[in-house]
Amino acid sequence: MIAETADVLVIGSGIAGLTFALEAAQFGRVVVVTKKDRAESATNYAQGGIAAVMGEGDSLDSHIHDTVEAGAGLCKEEIVKIVVSEGPGKIRRLMEWGAEFSEEDGSLALGREGGHSMHRIVHHADATGHEVERALLDALKRHPQVELWENATAVDLITDRHVDIDARPRNKRCYGAYVYDLEMGRIRAVPARVTLLASGGMGMVWKNTTNPTIATGDGVAMSWRAGARIANLEFMQFHPTALYEPDRKGRAFLITEALRGAGGILLNDSGERFMEDVHPRKELASRDIVARAIDMQRKTHGIEHVWLDCSHLNPDKLRKEFPTIYTTLRDEHGINMVREPIPVVPAAHYQCGGVLCDENAHSTIDNLLVAGEVACTGLHGANRLASNSLLEAVVFASRAAEETKRILEATPKEPLPQIPVWNDSGTYDDEEFVLIRHDVSEIRNLMEDYVGIIRSDLRLERAGRRLAIITVEVEDYWRRTTVSNEIIELRNLAQVARMIVKCARQRRESRGLHTTTDYPDLDPVLGVRDTVI
Ligand code: FAD
Ligand code: SIN
Repeated sequence: MIAETADVLVIGSGIAGLTFALEAAQFGRVVVVTKKDRAESATNYAQGGIAAVMGEGDSLDSHIHDTVEAGAGLCKEEIVKIVVSEGPGKIRRLMEWGAEFSEEDGSLALGREGGHSMHRIVHHADATGHEVERALLDALKRHPQVELWENATAVDLITDRHVDIDARPRNKRCYGAYVYDLEMGRIRAVPARVTLLASGGMGMVWKNTTNPTIATGDGVAMSWRAGARIANLEFMQFHPTALYEPDRKGRAFLITEALRGAGGILLNDSGERFMEDVHPRKELASRDIVARAIDMQRKTHGIEHVWLDCSHLNPDKLRKEFPTIYTTLRDEHGINMVREPIPVVPAAHYQCGGVLCDENAHSTIDNLLVAGEVACTGLHGANRLASNSLLEAVVFASRAAEETKRILEATPKEPLPQIPVWNDSGTYDDEEFVLIRHDVSEIRNLMEDYVGIIRSDLRLERAGRRLAIITVEVEDYWRRTTVSNEIIELRNLAQVARMIVKCARQRRESRGLHTTTDYPDLDPVLGVRDTVI
């Protein structure tokens, strides 16, 4: 059962939503809604760790430099400085809340990943996200000011268009969200003074993704429908090394970049170490470079996958430092990674763009804050540096909590407007559920084929035309079908897929994660700007 009203509504229970909830609870009553089970989030599957300057010999300048270099000219440098310099304090806060990180000789053990010039990845073996999610959920259980509802899917943000705006300020403002309560089978309003959107990414838009099924771009779609500015969706990051499985059903199992940091090498089907010819950092070049090189190997050699070989590394160390990957490969896939190479392919992994926000996590809609993967803060630019996303999520979640304090203090007694009930008249149980499934797979297949690692005008145009037809069909289902998570997600997937194509068509150059054969070079003048829609 969802509460009637809250001071603060949080949408999502990954690292961003939970960190924010713990901090914002000092200032008011917090309600967290989450689409499935409380732990089900990208956070829970994060392997490599959290990048932060915690080791001797490392420096903030070096982390800033690596972040900006990966971002290919589009990082907002003031945001990079904020995130990198506030990061170490946030790691200590996570530890105070109970997160345990791997140690070596009494200090934090620091891993290394692509694009980093130093060892600076704080981790919990190869299951960092699971440990962080566990610690945050445990801390939350003890908090009297926070309520958490599972199986509660935010459908739309409540804004001025839902309420009587006569007495309201002219700026668009958010008053909470309409939420689908799976147990009750209906949509109800959850009014709130401040809303934090922390609904994660959109990997499910592509057929091959490392993301869990919750990652359907709901936050970006809801914000766009509410009139917020969205930016840089062309910059989807493909992780170079997901496990290749020809008959895979669910998400692709990630093979952490930390394995390449530990010395793993990439080989093609002829056993050649192809990254030697591509970049001086070889396998530890930034992700866009490694993913493109693998894509090129697949195309030129006509192969489905390349190999990640760790068989030359110390087997005991591998088993100790990568227990999740070692046992999953052995038990579920019959691969012994200490002796044989692992077949790997790139897969959609992380959305660098999202809901545009300022340095205090405020979107372009009043009282709507964003943090985590749903946000476009300016940290990542055109390509995210490995393990910078968990870092960005904790820093921006804390900043959002401070912003919440400011908002609540500025409007302490203002009553919330009357929110109308959700209007579902004219909808009925549609028997053509199969059409919803069909549209989902059509979207995911066409994004995989036409809007992948290497793009072209022709492919983007085709994708745009097909998506235009699909979105019209989906709007029709939406208007007449009884609500369900499937129809909510299909509508969001279709809308964000269209937005991605729109952003990609606007960027007439190749920069960071966006590579197109029609504009293979950087445009040093027009390219140095966000794609805002
Ligand atoms: P999430 O953790 O995805 O949480 C989103 C939450 O929102 C979920 O609870 C979800 O159920 C909920 N939600 C979604 N839609 C709705 C809705 N409509 N209504 C209600 N709730 C909703 N990054 C790193 O920095 N280091 C790593 O090592 C790393 N490894 C990764 C490994 C994998 C396999 C993956 C997929 C990602 C990895 N990343 C890593 C990226 C990182 O994990 C994510 O960017 C980060 O966890 C996002 O956190 P978040 O809180 O924004 O979203
Ligand atoms: C990984 O462990 O390779 C993922 C790290 C990340 O996505 O930042």
